[in-house]
Amino acid sequence: MTDPARAVRDHRAMDGDSERAAVPPDYDRDPERFRTARAVLRRHAVATALPFAEAAFGSVALLYVLYHLRDPGRALAEARRVLRPGGLLAVAVPSRHDSPALAHGLPRTPLTFDAELAPSAIGALFADVEVERWDAPLLRLPARADVRDYLVGKGVAGERAAQVAATTDVP
Ligand SMILES: C[S@@+](CC[C@H](N)C(=O)[O-])C[C@H]1O[C@@H](n2cnc3c(N)ncnc32)[C@H](O)[C@@H]1O
Repeated sequence: MTDPARAVRDHRAMDGDSERAAVPPDYDRDPERFRTARAVLRRHAVATALPFAEAAFGSVALLYVLYHLRDPGRALAEARRVLRPGGLLAVAVPSRHDSPALAHGLPRTPLTFDAELAPSAIGALFADVEVERWDAPLLRLPARADVRDYLVGKGVAGERAAQVAATTDVP
């Protein structure tokens, strides 16, 4: 039977331009196991109701996902449920103070989840919470169209995003 945690590790090994070329050699001798591992990995599901058994995984990643959800706490509880004891949950979310240069154009309504909420929300379910803060100019928006698209991605309506972009200095 396929071990889902092993499958996740194998998925990392398969990353790259050519998945097939990066497949570990034992899969060449065991094509059925390769097929099953891919089937596990490509299963689409909602984060708040995962179709996996309890303690099925050694690690779970919720990267830039939680603030899209109405009830991010349910997704965290689901992550906890499918993780083995001692498993690792990795979460990445922006700070509510993200993108200060565009703060005037961003929605004032708070997201359902952000970096400020993360330590207590995650700490309520998981032990040993570590927070790594990134405070750096991580994104360059060279043209006003890029600014507009970025704002739309942050939930700003298209027309409003275009207005803000039109009055924003770009490098
Ligand atoms: C900003 S993207 C991040 C994608 C990827 N994790 C990354 O870091 O590149 C947000 C992702 O959240 C997913 N998403 C939104 N609502 C979801 C839900 N209820 N259950 C599972 N995934 C969801 C979307 O499909 C999308 O892939």
